[in-house]
Amino acid sequence: MARRRIIAGNWKMNKTPSEAIALCAELEDLVKNDNVDVVYCVPAIDIVPVAEAVKGTNVKVGAENFYIEDKGAYTGEISAPMLKDAGVEFVIIGHSERREYFKEDDAFLNKKVLKAIEAGITPILCCCESLEQREMNVTMDWIRLQIKSDLAGVSADQVKTMVIAYEPIWAIGTGKTATSDQAEEVCKGIRELIAEMYDQATADAVRIQYGGSMNASNAAELLSKPNIDGGLIGGASLKADFGQIVNA
Ligand code: PGA
Repeated sequence: MARRRIIAGNWKMNKTPSEAIALCAELEDLVKNDNVDVVYCVPAIDIVPVAEAVKGTNVKVGAENFYIEDKGAYTGEISAPMLKDAGVEFVIIGHSERREYFKEDDAFLNKKVLKAIEAGITPILCCCESLEQREMNVTMDWIRLQIKSDLAGVSADQVKTMVIAYEPIWAIGTGKTATSDQAEEVCKGIRELIAEMYDQATADAVRIQYGGSMNASNAAELLSKPNIDGGLIGGASLKADFGQIVNA
């Protein structure tokens, strides 16, 4: 079954609103490709200007975070309905940086997944292992635990629309990419887990990305693997290279 490819940029805490508009203009022609979903996941303050800047192009807008309540006394937070109203179609959930620096655990991440879906936003659910875990040979146990917890109460039909991103912590921002075989092994394991938790049709539909130092020179090799349907790209999403990844 052919899954539509999805290449998403994770801008992290980079680009002021005016820099964001300039980057959208710089990338506009480079990321043109009707066969791939192209998403910019941007800082909250850039969402409105970026949504405006990519209007009429093939680029979709994603967010990097939100809070699990719809509204109320949560000073400083942004809700899923606010993202939706601003034109957000995708949201990153469970990135290792939020797990580590902001202490988001899987029970909380499960609430975020359910809330995003309720708001009509597609979760890009991230899972990861540390170098220590990989060396202890518990990568797949750890990945399975995260996904099983994060998807509690999510239906098969909902999972079919989701994106799952496998991002080994040791490869994020380090320039140390997982080999395409290492990445494929875990992405295949994730698909097998989805088949086990739901059914084969759901496993065949869910899109799985690899992320971690993906760049213009290694993207084609990673994307040639049968279970890797796209990429979640940090550093390389902030420059012209992103266009080469989209077209790899
Ligand atoms: P990187 O980040 O491409 O800079 O390694 C990927 C990510 O954290 O999503």
